[in-house]
Formats: sequence, C-alpha cells, structure tokens
Amino acid sequence: MENKKHGNTLVNVVVALAVIFLLIKFGVPAASRKITGLDLPLPVPSTLFLFYAVLILIGTFVYVTSDEAYMESFLAPIKKLLRDGYGKRSRIVVTTLVPVVVAVGVFLWVRPTVTSPVALRIQHPSSNFPRKFESVLNPMENPTDAEIDEFIEQVKNNAVEFFPQVQEVGNKFTNIDFIPKKPVQDFLAKLKNGDVDRELAKEALHEKNLFEGRAMYEINCRVCHGDSAGGDGPMAYGFQLRPINFTDNGTIEVLVEGYTFWRVKIGGLGLPVESTPWDSAMPVWSLDLTEKERWAIIMGEYNLAQKTPRIREKLE
Ligand code: HEC
Repeated sequence: MENKKHGNTLVNVVVALAVIFLLIKFGVPAASRKITGLDLPLPVPSTLFLFYAVLILIGTFVYVTSDEAYMESFLAPIKKLLRDGYGKRSRIVVTTLVPVVVAVGVFLWVRPTVTSPVALRIQHPSSNFPRKFESVLNPMENPTDAEIDEFIEQVKNNAVEFFPQVQEVGNKFTNIDFIPKKPVQDFLAKLKNGDVDRELAKEALHEKNLFEGRAMYEINCRVCHGDSAGGDGPMAYGFQLRPINFTDNGTIEVLVEGYTFWRVKIGGLGLPVESTPWDSAMPVWSLDLTEKERWAIIMGEYNLAQKTPRIREKLE
C-alpha cells in the first residue's frame, strides 16, 4: 500500500467535483437537446441537483476514507497550508477567502428578492362571506306596503324625504316633481285630481329611489369607479389595484345583490388573505353610509352600469 502512487488526492477530489458539477449543470441540458431534438434544453431540477450533490459528496467521502494513504494525501496539502508550508501569505489569503466566498454565496442564496408574487388575487372571496347575505334582496327595490303608504303621504304633504347628501346638493328637495320620468309625472297628475293610484305610487317610489341611488353613487363612488361606472374616475389612475369597472362582464353582474352589499359594507379592509397581496383602496362604507343609503347606491350602481344582479339559484 505504501508504494502506491496517488498523485494528490485533494486536487483529484476538487477536479472531480468541478467536472461533475459542470457536467450536470451544462452537459446534461446540452445532451438533452441532442437527444430530444428540441430547441429547449431540459435543465436539471434544483432538487435533483441537490440529490446528486449529496450522493457525490458521500461517494467522495467513502473514496477518501477508504484508504489511509488517500486520507493522508488528501489532508497533507491542507495541513501544509495551515502550518505555513506554502508561506504565511497563502495561509492568510486562503483562510480569509474561503469564509468570504461562503458568506457571499449564502447571502445571495437567501436574500429576499423583489419579484411580483405568483399567488393570484381572488376578486370575489367567499371564505368570510356571511351566508345570511346570500338571500337578502334589495329593500329599495322591494318596498313594503307601509313604505308605499308613507311615501304617498309625503308626496301629498310636500314633505318627501331624501338622504341628507342628496338634500344638500339638491337645494332642499321637498317633492318628486323634478323627476321627469313618466310614472312620476302620471302619479302626480292623478293625485292632483284626488286619485291615489297605488300601482303608480309604487313605480314613482322606484323612480325616486333610483334617482337617489344614482345621485348617492355620483357623490360617493364616482371619484374611483367613474361617472358611468366604467372604473375610470379621476382617482382611479392613482391605484395599483384599479377600482372595478362595473360595466365589465364578470364583476357586479355575476354577484347576487347581497354579496355586492357585503363588499361595499366591508370595503378593502374586510377582505380575507386570498384577496391580497395587493391592498384594495375600496373604503369601508359601513363607516360613512347607513344601510339604506348603501342599498340605494347599489340600486343606482347596477342601473348606471346597465347590469342586473345574479339571481340566486333555488334548490328544489
Ligand atoms: C378610493 C377609491 C374607491 C371608492 C371611493 C369606491 N371604491 Fe369600490 N373599489 C375600489 C377598488 C380599488 C376596488 C377593487 C379592489 C377590491 O375589489 O376591493 C373596488 C371594488 C368595489 C367592488 C367589488 C366589485 C367586484 O366585482 O368584486 C364594489 C361592489 C365596489 N367597489 C363598490 C363601490 C361603491 C358602491 C362605492 C361608493 C359607495 C365605491 N365602491 C367607492 C375603490 C373605490
């Protein structure tokens, strides 16, 4: 054994590792290109790479430790270096360079990078959507008999109530005569002759609610969602996550009204994690508007966008 000629085992090992690394990194993809005849090389997946690396290191370790002479020849240059056999300068250079290279490598490997997240944002999350909203219908679209009676009284007494915000821009409306819609004008004309038509009153109330809803939309939502609900309000361009264009297919049209109501209520802050990573600028409207005002806006919003809410499927 002692007479065996080994060359320098350390150099052999380093060269072997380098050759194998280059083979896997560049040889395999190049060979795959020849074999498949494709333009694209087939890269070696990094997990497979790691797997090879561990196997090769184990193999090298077994090889070096299998024979005392190999071991000695492997360690000899290292010992010589540490004992200044190659000169003091070489020792200092190597013992500084190795930790620096390792440190830089590790840093580059674990450093967080700014790439856009791969996770897709979910526009219509359901994880925290309270089921009770699913079957709620818009009360502004479906007034009760008592509400219709009250409305008729208000019209008779010239004391029609509007939301404060509408009242403010409308210079204190007291009646509905400024609404140029046919049901409104017909209802008022009949009323003048002492004839109360409940069906017309219901239609007139609907027109009044629609007017108010659209007005409330323009006051509160227009800056972002645009005056004709196209998602192009003056503030829209300032947001990375753009305000929704309600005239697009697949927005409020695919939602039951109760869901739209809930989204307006909770705003961007109430969205669950699957609706991140971009923050929504949508305000939390339950803080600023009453429930009735929000329902009226939703009515106006669908009307402006010329969409109808999704009708809830009924299970037999
Ligand atoms: C400050 C800008 C801003 C204002 C004001 C605003 N929104 Fe939004 N809204 C957004 C943004 C941004 C989104 C998209 C992100 C999201 O889904 O939360 C959005 C989304 C929505 C959605 C979800 C639609 C869908 O298909 O998922 C609804 C509904 C909505 N807004 C209604 C309203 C209503 C009603 C108002 C007025 C009361 C309003 N918004 C006012 C910024 C705004």
